Amino acid sequence: MERSKDRNSEISAHYTLDGLAEAIRTGLEKLDGAGAALDLLGAVDEFHMGGRRATEALAAALSLPEGAKVLDIGCGLGGTARFLAATAGVDVEGVDLTPAYVEIGQALTRQLGLDDRVRLSVGQAQALPFRPESFDAATMLHVGMNIPDKAAVFAGIARMLKPGGRFAIYDVMRIGTGEVAFPVPWSSRPQTSFLATPEAYRSALAEAGLRLVSTEDRREMALAMFRTMKQRMQDMGPPPLGLHLVMGKDAPVKLSNMIAALEAGTVAPVQMIAAKE
Ligand SMILES: C[S@@+](CC[C@H](N)C(=O)[O-])C[C@H]1O[C@@H](n2cnc3c(N)ncnc32)[C@H](O)[C@@H]1O
Repeated sequence: MERSKDRNSEISAHYTLDGLAEAIRTGLEKLDGAGAALDLLGAVDEFHMGGRRATEALAAALSLPEGAKVLDIGCGLGGTARFLAATAGVDVEGVDLTPAYVEIGQALTRQLGLDDRVRLSVGQAQALPFRPESFDAATMLHVGMNIPDKAAVFAGIARMLKPGGRFAIYDVMRIGTGEVAFPVPWSSRPQTSFLATPEAYRSALAEAGLRLVSTEDRREMALAMFRTMKQRMQDMGPPPLGLHLVMGKDAPVKLSNMIAALEAGTVAPVQMIAAKE
């Protein structure tokens, strides 16, 4: 128990960054008038490979009916929650370990006038504070890499889902045996990184009573996106809003370690959709 408390404190500290709220505010001001805030924020509040595009693909795979109740585990700044609420007309409960993210996420949600549909709170995937069978769907994007006990977490999520409810995972998974150099965007050191293979995810889902519906390896999409991003950085420098803001001063080394692992075929972002029977 004590060990998992220390581990979660370290993980939360990894994601806590001085000046992030201010950096996002400044970025939005610079882009003022360049588009809708929900779209502009997608560059910084969707902290996973492929950003908003990956969330769109996940939403399409889930095909949520209007008014559905969705649980977003490890919601971060709440970008996915706000996107789903605004575009699919669903209600989203987001839970995240990192208080600083939740605080910024709540402010952005109010700013976008989505606080009637999106609620973000501090909490742990290992101890979800909701009634059984209270959600039509659950999502978890780039969080499993921080979770050692995936089967236990999936069992908790399965309890929260109504029968027939769907669970969408989009995580960085281990697809090869190579070494991963640290830091990476989800962890400063190996002790707080729990990469698992798609097979391990499949068996953790099955153990939790969740039936796998589809699996999609999105490595090619991620590589193409990083190439475009690198080129744009070389040509124009960092954009006013981008994931470099949430990765902090060691963003370049985190990114290059992750791209190296992707290129070597050691890791890949994988989307899985599962269903509660
Ligand atoms: C890479 S970020 C992804 C955030 C968000 N899902 C997104 O895609 O923008 C990982 C997030 O998982 C959260 N997290 C890590 N371990 C967690 C846990 N055990 N319970 C809840 N959240 C956790 C972190 O605080 C962080 O916000």
